[in-house]
Amino acid sequence: MSKTVTILGIETSCDETAASVVVNGREMLSNVIHSQIPLHKEYGGVVPELASRDHVENIDRVVGLALSQAEKTLEEIDAVAVTYGAGLQGALLVGLSFAKALAQAINKPLYGINHIRGHICANYITHKELEPPYLCLIASGGHTAIVRVDTFTEITPIMSTFDDAAGEAFDKVARVLGLQYPGGVTLDKLSKNGQAIYKLPSPLVNGGFSYSGLKTATVNLIHKMTQQKQEFKMEDICASFQKTAIDGLVSAVKTQAGILGLSKAAIAGGVGANSYLREEMKKLNGVQVFYPDLKLCTDNAAMIASCAYFLINAGFPPSGGDLNAAPTLRL
Ligand code: KG4
Ligand code: ZN
Repeated sequence: MSKTVTILGIETSCDETAASVVVNGREMLSNVIHSQIPLHKEYGGVVPELASRDHVENIDRVVGLALSQAEKTLEEIDAVAVTYGAGLQGALLVGLSFAKALAQAINKPLYGINHIRGHICANYITHKELEPPYLCLIASGGHTAIVRVDTFTEITPIMSTFDDAAGEAFDKVARVLGLQYPGGVTLDKLSKNGQAIYKLPSPLVNGGFSYSGLKTATVNLIHKMTQQKQEFKMEDICASFQKTAIDGLVSAVKTQAGILGLSKAAIAGGVGANSYLREEMKKLNGVQVFYPDLKLCTDNAAMIASCAYFLINAGFPPSGGDLNAAPTLRL
Protein backbone atom coordinates (compact mmCIF):
# COMPACT_ATOMS: atom_id res chain seq x y z
CA MET A 1 0.00 0.00 0.00
CA SER A 2 1.27 3.48 -0.86
CA LYS A 3 2.42 5.82 1.92
CA THR A 4 -0.67 7.94 1.44
CA VAL A 5 -3.72 5.93 2.42
CA THR A 6 -7.00 7.27 1.08
CA ILE A 7 -10.06 5.73 2.69
CA LEU A 8 -13.73 5.99 1.81
CA GLY A 9 -15.82 5.77 4.99
CA ILE A 10 -19.51 4.85 5.10
CA GLU A 11 -21.83 5.23 8.12
CA THR A 12 -25.51 4.24 8.32
CA SER A 13 -25.88 2.97 11.90
CA CYS A 14 -28.83 5.19 12.88
CA ASP A 15 -30.44 8.25 11.30
CA GLU A 16 -27.63 9.72 9.20
CA THR A 17 -26.51 8.44 5.82
CA ALA A 18 -22.89 9.55 5.70
CA ALA A 19 -19.83 9.12 3.51
CA SER A 20 -16.41 10.71 3.63
CA VAL A 21 -12.94 10.51 2.14
CA VAL A 22 -10.06 10.80 4.61
CA VAL A 23 -6.31 10.67 3.91
CA ASN A 24 -3.97 9.10 6.48
CA GLY A 25 -6.62 9.19 9.20
CA ARG A 26 -6.36 12.94 9.75
CA GLU A 27 -6.98 14.86 6.54
CA MET A 28 -10.68 15.04 5.70
CA LEU A 29 -11.27 15.66 1.99
CA SER A 30 -15.07 15.44 2.17
CA ASN A 31 -17.75 14.83 4.79
CA VAL A 32 -21.24 14.32 3.38
CA ILE A 33 -24.10 13.79 5.84
CA HIS A 34 -27.70 13.23 4.82
CA SER A 35 -29.75 13.70 7.99
CA GLN A 36 -33.07 11.90 8.45
CA ILE A 37 -34.26 14.30 11.16
CA PRO A 38 -37.16 15.68 9.05
CA LEU A 39 -38.30 12.11 8.41
CA HIS A 40 -38.42 11.03 12.07
CA LYS A 41 -39.46 14.35 13.59
CA GLU A 42 -43.19 13.72 13.51
CA TYR A 43 -42.75 10.41 15.39
CA GLY A 44 -40.62 11.95 18.15
CA GLY A 45 -37.80 9.44 17.60
CA VAL A 46 -36.10 7.21 15.06
CA VAL A 47 -38.42 4.72 13.32
CA PRO A 48 -36.07 1.85 12.34
CA GLU A 49 -37.96 0.72 9.22
CA LEU A 50 -38.12 4.26 7.85
CA ALA A 51 -34.44 4.75 8.64
CA SER A 52 -33.41 1.66 6.62
CA ARG A 53 -35.50 2.67 3.62
CA ASP A 54 -34.14 6.18 3.62
CA HIS A 55 -30.56 4.87 3.79
CA VAL A 56 -31.29 2.68 0.74
CA GLU A 57 -32.64 5.67 -1.15
CA ASN A 58 -29.70 7.93 -0.37
CA ILE A 59 -26.54 5.89 0.03
CA ASP A 60 -25.53 5.81 -3.63
CA ARG A 61 -25.95 9.59 -3.95
CA VAL A 62 -24.15 10.33 -0.66
CA VAL A 63 -21.15 8.14 -1.54
CA GLY A 64 -20.99 9.70 -5.01
CA LEU A 65 -21.00 13.18 -3.47
CA ALA A 66 -18.28 12.29 -0.98
CA LEU A 67 -16.04 11.11 -3.83
CA SER A 68 -16.74 14.09 -6.08
CA GLN A 69 -16.29 16.65 -3.28
CA ALA A 70 -12.97 14.98 -2.43
CA GLU A 71 -12.08 15.05 -6.12
CA LYS A 72 -11.26 11.36 -5.98
CA THR A 73 -12.24 8.54 -8.28
CA LEU A 74 -12.94 5.03 -7.03
CA GLU A 75 -9.57 3.95 -8.48
CA GLU A 76 -7.84 6.36 -6.10
CA ILE A 77 -9.46 4.81 -3.01
CA ASP A 78 -7.15 2.41 -1.10
CA ALA A 79 -9.78 0.89 1.22
CA VAL A 80 -13.46 1.05 2.13
CA ALA A 81 -14.43 1.45 5.81
CA VAL A 82 -17.94 0.87 7.12
CA THR A 83 -19.68 0.89 10.49
CA TYR A 84 -20.83 -2.67 11.31
CA GLY A 85 -22.08 -1.98 14.88
CA ALA A 86 -23.49 -0.88 17.20
CA GLY A 87 -26.72 0.50 15.78
CA LEU A 88 -30.02 -0.44 14.20
CA GLN A 89 -29.77 -3.80 12.44
CA GLY A 90 -31.58 -2.80 9.25
CA ALA A 91 -29.81 0.55 9.03
CA LEU A 92 -26.37 -1.02 9.56
CA LEU A 93 -27.08 -3.63 6.88
CA VAL A 94 -27.67 -0.98 4.22
CA GLY A 95 -24.21 0.56 4.66
CA LEU A 96 -22.56 -2.79 5.16
CA SER A 97 -24.03 -4.38 2.03
CA PHE A 98 -23.20 -1.32 -0.03
CA ALA A 99 -19.62 -1.18 1.27
CA LYS A 100 -19.06 -4.90 0.74
CA ALA A 101 -20.29 -4.78 -2.83
CA LEU A 102 -18.27 -1.63 -3.57
CA ALA A 103 -15.03 -3.00 -2.07
CA GLN A 104 -15.43 -6.17 -4.09
CA ALA A 105 -16.22 -4.31 -7.29
CA ILE A 106 -13.12 -2.09 -7.03
CA ASN A 107 -11.02 -4.91 -5.59
CA LYS A 108 -10.00 -3.01 -2.46
CA PRO A 109 -9.94 -4.15 1.20
CA LEU A 110 -12.97 -3.65 3.42
CA TYR A 111 -12.67 -2.65 7.09
CA GLY A 112 -15.63 -3.11 9.44
CA ILE A 113 -15.51 -0.37 12.10
CA ASN A 114 -16.94 -0.15 15.61
CA HIS A 115 -19.07 3.03 15.68
CA ILE A 116 -17.98 4.04 19.17
CA ARG A 117 -14.29 3.66 18.38
CA GLY A 118 -15.05 5.79 15.35
CA HIS A 119 -16.38 8.58 17.59
CA ILE A 120 -13.03 8.60 19.43
CA CYS A 121 -11.13 8.92 16.12
CA ALA A 122 -13.08 12.07 15.19
CA ASN A 123 -10.60 13.80 17.51
CA TYR A 124 -7.65 12.86 15.27
CA ILE A 125 -9.20 14.80 12.39
CA THR A 126 -9.71 17.98 14.42
CA HIS A 127 -6.45 17.73 16.40
CA LYS A 128 -3.60 16.76 14.12
CA GLU A 129 -1.22 16.57 17.08
CA LEU A 130 -3.35 14.36 19.35
CA GLU A 131 -1.70 11.04 20.20
CA PRO A 132 -2.42 8.39 22.84
CA PRO A 133 -2.31 7.86 25.72
CA TYR A 134 -5.24 9.99 26.85
CA LEU A 135 -8.50 9.70 28.70
CA CYS A 136 -11.64 9.71 26.57
CA LEU A 137 -15.18 10.51 27.66
CA ILE A 138 -17.65 8.85 25.31
CA ALA A 139 -21.16 10.30 25.61
CA SER A 140 -23.65 9.62 22.86
CA GLY A 141 -27.24 8.51 22.42
CA GLY A 142 -26.29 4.88 22.97
CA HIS A 143 -23.14 4.94 25.11
CA THR A 144 -21.67 6.66 28.12
CA ALA A 145 -18.23 5.59 29.23
CA ILE A 146 -14.76 6.70 30.17
CA VAL A 147 -11.89 4.80 28.61
CA ARG A 148 -8.13 5.06 28.54
CA VAL A 149 -6.98 5.27 24.93
CA ASP A 150 -3.71 3.34 25.16
CA THR A 151 -2.72 3.36 21.48
CA PHE A 152 -4.47 4.31 18.23
CA THR A 153 -6.16 0.88 18.25
CA GLU A 154 -6.21 -0.22 21.92
CA ILE A 155 -8.59 0.93 24.61
CA THR A 156 -8.99 0.10 28.30
CA PRO A 157 -12.52 0.60 29.70
CA ILE A 158 -12.48 2.56 32.97
CA MET A 159 -16.13 3.17 33.82
CA SER A 160 -19.44 3.04 32.00
CA THR A 161 -23.17 3.42 32.48
CA PHE A 162 -25.15 0.74 34.30
CA ASP A 163 -28.32 1.65 32.40
CA ASP A 164 -29.21 4.56 30.08
CA ALA A 165 -26.77 6.65 28.10
CA ALA A 166 -26.45 10.39 28.78
CA GLY A 167 -27.81 11.33 25.34
CA GLU A 168 -30.78 9.01 25.83
CA ALA A 169 -31.65 10.87 29.06
CA PHE A 170 -31.35 14.26 27.27
CA ASP A 171 -33.69 13.01 24.53
CA LYS A 172 -36.23 11.57 26.98
CA VAL A 173 -36.43 14.70 29.16
CA ALA A 174 -36.73 16.84 26.04
CA ARG A 175 -39.60 14.65 24.76
CA VAL A 176 -41.48 14.90 28.06
CA LEU A 177 -41.06 18.70 27.88
CA GLY A 178 -42.61 18.58 24.41
CA LEU A 179 -39.44 19.63 22.59
CA GLN A 180 -38.97 18.43 19.04
CA TYR A 181 -36.74 15.49 18.19
CA PRO A 182 -33.76 15.43 18.44
CA GLY A 183 -34.16 17.00 21.84
CA GLY A 184 -30.61 17.12 23.22
CA VAL A 185 -29.52 20.14 21.25
CA THR A 186 -32.78 22.06 21.95
CA LEU A 187 -32.52 21.32 25.67
CA ASP A 188 -28.96 22.68 25.56
CA LYS A 189 -30.20 25.92 23.92
CA LEU A 190 -33.11 26.43 26.37
CA SER A 191 -30.82 25.86 29.36
CA LYS A 192 -29.00 29.08 28.53
CA ASN A 193 -32.11 31.03 29.61
CA GLY A 194 -32.75 29.02 32.75
CA GLN A 195 -31.46 28.65 36.31
CA ALA A 196 -30.46 25.27 37.75
CA ILE A 197 -32.79 25.66 40.75
CA TYR A 198 -34.00 22.05 41.07
CA LYS A 199 -31.98 19.45 42.95
CA LEU A 200 -31.74 16.20 40.99
CA PRO A 201 -29.82 12.95 41.65
CA SER A 202 -26.26 12.77 40.36
CA PRO A 203 -25.59 10.21 37.61
CA LEU A 204 -22.45 9.11 39.47
CA VAL A 205 -23.13 5.87 41.36
CA ASN A 206 -20.93 3.02 42.61
CA GLY A 207 -17.98 3.84 40.41
CA GLY A 208 -20.06 4.11 37.24
CA PHE A 209 -22.83 6.19 35.66
CA SER A 210 -26.59 5.77 35.99
CA TYR A 211 -28.71 8.08 33.85
CA SER A 212 -31.93 6.20 34.45
CA GLY A 213 -32.36 7.63 37.97
CA LEU A 214 -31.72 11.21 36.85
CA LYS A 215 -34.03 10.77 33.87
CA THR A 216 -36.88 9.38 35.98
CA ALA A 217 -36.45 12.01 38.71
CA THR A 218 -36.63 14.81 36.13
CA VAL A 219 -39.67 13.31 34.41
CA ASN A 220 -41.39 12.85 37.80
CA LEU A 221 -40.64 16.46 38.74
CA ILE A 222 -42.23 17.70 35.51
CA HIS A 223 -45.31 15.49 36.00
CA LYS A 224 -45.70 16.47 39.66
CA MET A 225 -45.52 20.20 38.98
CA THR A 226 -47.87 19.87 36.02
CA GLN A 227 -50.43 17.86 38.03
CA GLN A 228 -50.26 20.26 40.95
CA LYS A 229 -50.65 23.15 38.52
CA GLN A 230 -47.44 24.70 39.83
CA GLU A 231 -45.95 27.32 37.59
CA PHE A 232 -42.48 26.54 36.36
CA LYS A 233 -40.13 27.73 33.68
CA MET A 234 -39.25 24.99 31.23
CA GLU A 235 -35.80 26.58 30.90
CA ASP A 236 -35.16 26.03 34.64
CA ILE A 237 -35.94 22.31 34.29
CA CYS A 238 -33.60 22.14 31.29
CA ALA A 239 -30.80 23.95 33.12
CA SER A 240 -31.20 21.81 36.26
CA PHE A 241 -31.21 18.55 34.33
CA GLN A 242 -28.32 19.61 32.10
CA LYS A 243 -26.18 20.80 35.01
CA THR A 244 -26.67 17.54 36.91
CA ALA A 245 -26.12 15.36 33.84
CA ILE A 246 -22.98 17.17 32.72
CA ASP A 247 -21.44 17.88 36.14
CA GLY A 248 -21.36 14.09 36.67
CA LEU A 249 -19.40 13.58 33.46
CA VAL A 250 -16.96 16.41 34.15
CA SER A 251 -16.35 15.29 37.72
CA ALA A 252 -15.69 11.69 36.56
CA VAL A 253 -13.18 12.89 33.96
CA LYS A 254 -11.41 14.97 36.61
CA THR A 255 -11.23 12.07 39.06
CA GLN A 256 -10.09 9.48 36.52
CA ALA A 257 -7.49 11.76 34.94
CA GLY A 258 -6.04 12.22 38.44
CA ILE A 259 -6.10 8.51 39.30
CA LEU A 260 -4.54 7.46 35.98
CA GLY A 261 -2.10 10.37 35.86
CA LEU A 262 -3.25 11.49 32.42
CA SER A 263 -2.94 15.12 31.39
CA LYS A 264 -5.01 14.85 28.19
CA ALA A 265 -8.74 14.15 27.86
CA ALA A 266 -10.78 13.90 24.66
CA ILE A 267 -14.54 13.96 24.24
CA ALA A 268 -16.39 11.70 21.80
CA GLY A 269 -20.04 11.36 20.74
CA GLY A 270 -23.07 13.60 20.28
CA VAL A 271 -23.26 14.89 23.87
CA GLY A 272 -19.76 16.28 23.24
CA ALA A 273 -21.57 19.01 21.30
CA ASN A 274 -23.16 20.25 24.56
CA SER A 275 -22.17 23.85 25.22
CA TYR A 276 -22.20 23.57 29.01
CA LEU A 277 -20.00 20.45 28.87
CA ARG A 278 -17.51 22.29 26.69
CA GLU A 279 -17.42 25.26 29.06
CA GLU A 280 -17.03 23.15 32.18
CA MET A 281 -14.28 20.98 30.70
CA LYS A 282 -12.24 24.12 30.04
CA LYS A 283 -12.13 24.70 33.79
CA LEU A 284 -10.35 21.41 34.54
CA ASN A 285 -6.95 22.23 35.97
CA GLY A 286 -3.98 20.32 34.62
CA VAL A 287 -5.98 18.49 31.96
CA GLN A 288 -5.77 19.54 28.33
CA VAL A 289 -9.16 18.88 26.74
CA PHE A 290 -9.78 17.97 23.09
CA TYR A 291 -13.15 18.03 21.31
CA PRO A 292 -13.95 17.15 17.75
CA ASP A 293 -15.36 20.01 15.64
CA LEU A 294 -19.11 20.26 16.24
CA LYS A 295 -19.86 18.59 12.89
CA LEU A 296 -17.71 15.62 13.88
CA CYS A 297 -19.29 15.15 17.34
CA THR A 298 -22.49 13.65 16.01
CA ASP A 299 -22.60 10.77 13.53
CA ASN A 300 -20.42 11.09 10.44
CA ALA A 301 -18.33 8.86 8.19
CA ALA A 302 -15.03 10.75 8.46
CA MET A 303 -14.49 9.25 11.91
CA ILE A 304 -15.11 5.78 10.44
CA ALA A 305 -12.53 6.30 7.68
CA SER A 306 -10.05 7.67 10.22
CA CYS A 307 -10.50 4.64 12.46
CA ALA A 308 -9.81 2.27 9.54
CA TYR A 309 -6.56 4.08 8.76
CA PHE A 310 -5.20 3.42 12.24
CA LEU A 311 -6.18 -0.26 12.00
CA ILE A 312 -4.37 -0.55 8.66
CA ASN A 313 -1.37 1.31 10.05
CA ALA A 314 -1.19 -1.10 12.99
CA GLY A 315 -1.26 -4.09 10.63
CA PHE A 316 -4.80 -5.34 11.25
CA PRO A 317 -6.14 -7.53 8.42
CA PRO A 318 -9.21 -6.47 6.44
CA SER A 319 -12.63 -7.86 7.34
CA GLY A 320 -13.81 -10.99 5.57
CA GLY A 321 -16.79 -11.26 3.25
CA ASP A 322 -18.73 -12.77 6.16
CA LEU A 323 -18.70 -9.50 8.12
CA ASN A 324 -22.19 -9.06 9.53
CA ALA A 325 -24.07 -6.25 11.25
CA ALA A 326 -23.58 -6.30 15.04
CA PRO A 327 -26.39 -4.16 16.54
CA THR A 328 -25.21 -4.62 20.16
CA LEU A 329 -21.46 -4.42 19.53
CA ARG A 330 -19.56 -3.18 22.58
CA LEU A 331 -16.40 -1.14 22.85
O1 KG4 B 1 -23.14 10.31 18.69
P1 KG4 B 1 -24.54 10.54 18.28
O2 KG4 B 1 -24.78 11.43 17.08
O3 KG4 B 1 -25.28 9.22 17.98
C1 KG4 B 1 -25.07 8.05 18.71
O4 KG4 B 1 -24.09 7.35 18.41
O5 KG4 B 1 -25.87 7.83 19.63
O6 KG4 B 1 -25.26 11.14 19.57
C2 KG4 B 1 -26.59 11.52 19.54
C3 KG4 B 1 -26.95 12.00 20.93
C4 KG4 B 1 -28.44 12.27 21.07
O7 KG4 B 1 -28.89 11.64 22.23
C5 KG4 B 1 -28.51 13.77 21.18
O8 KG4 B 1 -29.58 14.24 21.94
C6 KG4 B 1 -27.19 14.10 21.83
O9 KG4 B 1 -26.27 13.23 21.23
N1 KG4 B 1 -26.81 15.50 21.61
C7 KG4 B 1 -26.72 16.40 22.59
C8 KG4 B 1 -26.36 17.64 21.97
N2 KG4 B 1 -26.25 17.42 20.63
C9 KG4 B 1 -26.52 16.10 20.43
N3 KG4 B 1 -26.91 16.29 23.91
C10 KG4 B 1 -26.72 17.39 24.66
N4 KG4 B 1 -26.40 18.59 24.16
C11 KG4 B 1 -26.20 18.77 22.83
N5 KG4 B 1 -25.87 19.96 22.34
ZN1 ZN C 1 -22.84 7.95 17.19
